[in-house]
Amino acid sequence: MKIENKITTAVIHGIKTLYGQNVAPATIQLQKTKKEFSGHLTLVVFPFLKISHKKPEDTATDLGTFLKTEIPSIVSEFNVVKGFLNLVISSTSWTEILSDIHNNDHFGLTAASEQSPLVMIEYSSPNTNKPLHLGHVRNNLLGCALANIMSANGNHVVKTNIVNDRGIHICKSMLAWLKYGNGATPESTGIKGDHLIGDYYVAFDKHYKEQIKELMSKGMSEEEAKNEAPLIKEAREMLVKWENNDPEVRALWRKMNEWVYAGFDITYKNLGVNFDKIYYESDTYLEGKEKVLEGLEKGLFYRREDGSVWADLTKEGLDEKLLLRSDGTSVYMTQDIGTAKLRFRDFPINKMIYVVGNEQNYHFQVLSILLDKLGFEWGKDLVHFSYGMVELPNGKMKSREGTVVDADDLVEEMIAGARRMSEDKINKLTNLSEEEATEIARIVGLGALKYFILKVDARKNMLFNPAESIDFNGNTGPFIQYTYARIRSILRKAAEAGITIPDTFTAQAELSEKEIGLIQMMAEFPAVVKQAGTDYNPSCIANYCYDLVKEYNQFYHDFSILREEDENKKTFRLMLSAEVSKIIHIGMGLLGIEVPERM
Ligand code: ARG
Repeated sequence: MKIENKITTAVIHGIKTLYGQNVAPATIQLQKTKKEFSGHLTLVVFPFLKISHKKPEDTATDLGTFLKTEIPSIVSEFNVVKGFLNLVISSTSWTEILSDIHNNDHFGLTAASEQSPLVMIEYSSPNTNKPLHLGHVRNNLLGCALANIMSANGNHVVKTNIVNDRGIHICKSMLAWLKYGNGATPESTGIKGDHLIGDYYVAFDKHYKEQIKELMSKGMSEEEAKNEAPLIKEAREMLVKWENNDPEVRALWRKMNEWVYAGFDITYKNLGVNFDKIYYESDTYLEGKEKVLEGLEKGLFYRREDGSVWADLTKEGLDEKLLLRSDGTSVYMTQDIGTAKLRFRDFPINKMIYVVGNEQNYHFQVLSILLDKLGFEWGKDLVHFSYGMVELPNGKMKSREGTVVDADDLVEEMIAGARRMSEDKINKLTNLSEEEATEIARIVGLGALKYFILKVDARKNMLFNPAESIDFNGNTGPFIQYTYARIRSILRKAAEAGITIPDTFTAQAELSEKEIGLIQMMAEFPAVVKQAGTDYNPSCIANYCYDLVKEYNQFYHDFSILREEDENKKTFRLMLSAEVSKIIHIGMGLLGIEVPERM
């Protein structure tokens, strides 16, 4: 049982004994004692004054005295500051807590049971006309971390992706490839498939702009020119052919999308991102149409004179929303309805989380209402996990398009940066094989990237600063990884010296406040995981890891471990260190960040 629970029970008993009244557990407020006072846990006695009919100080003293006699193995001392009863928890209790952590390999994690809800998390969701960029990186990292956190909170989690693989954007790339590609393939050019397609998307845009300029110079308005340019007309024709299942267009589309998927797979693998089930818009958009027509029949939607189908959301304080165009073609919203239908057919979804940038806030507000109207139980409470923009400081690493930072380039650059760092800075790794050095650079480079992005509140816009992210002396992934590697090295040395850590530890001397502080912080980890789950907030795990590591480093600085002569203390500090490293491992693991055994 948690120590807070034991104290709560004793306090309830104390109030009954001292003042003859029953109080509910919820009235017992125990908090961490403020740094300026001595003690570890503080009981707020104000709620009991009506019962005690005494001054706050006297009530607190009554209860302190009671606890010290009732549970002496837990409460060893107390002091009173006005209505606050500061409790000093015994060293025995702290070592018991540490032993409990030690004996729980899944500390902080709650396993799902048969009754646990099924949470589906959608993230990534790229279009197939270009490679993934920095925005996708933030998306993927948040999605993966969130999935881990939800599953650590006892949910069944299904990780999913919707690939927007059809529409005018992919036709543009296809058309440009036909016109300017001379049959280029990923194999013939050595260019990764998603990048190759991205290049043609850029080429389309370039030629399209030229045509617009030309038409405008002949006197057309910009709007007209954009509409009348031969290239866009051809792209539209291609889309119609695609929708009509034209075999040639479909074959080209399939081939080019395969190139893109092969490219995405590599990016996902390098980022350490994966999915349980991927959906494709080309499979879902027709389902969406059907669902919309069903809704039309039920009177949920209405048809305008031109034949288009709309949802009237003015009652909900929104506007009217187009669901099918007058020519019967579907819009972005339509495919989301279809995707929802297929997902629900495949999984008994209790909660749906969409990880999508905040420029789509309105879209998901509307989607939620539409799904609710259409009878999806989880529609009303769907979560749009909405995150802000991420950019690099000016002038850093823009892709060929000059607008976005390419995900593959970024990952490569981070790993190269980590490699340079380890070569300049920490020359301790002299006996590493090339293979090991490469692996460490990968772990550290990615750790820097992931941690820097995840430590920030997801809703905020942010700058990703590669140099800062990889600094070993800040709130960074590598700083945490380094501390982990250092602890692992101590533990290896201890093992080599034949020192074993027992399953339960009995303290022979009083623990220092630093040591107690560390244990107390570790004991808070499960609550942090829970909080991260209720708030959908990976950053609180990141920042907890940082605080824990800082606290450990102070301890490491102030105390000797392997050189400690008192064997009992030495063993205790090794156990303490081992448990800190375990929690770092679990915590960083929730963020999708690996930690190296040496660094
Ligand atoms: N592919 C879309 C885009 O790049 C994002 C899709 C988000 N997910 C969704 N269910 N609508 O803008």
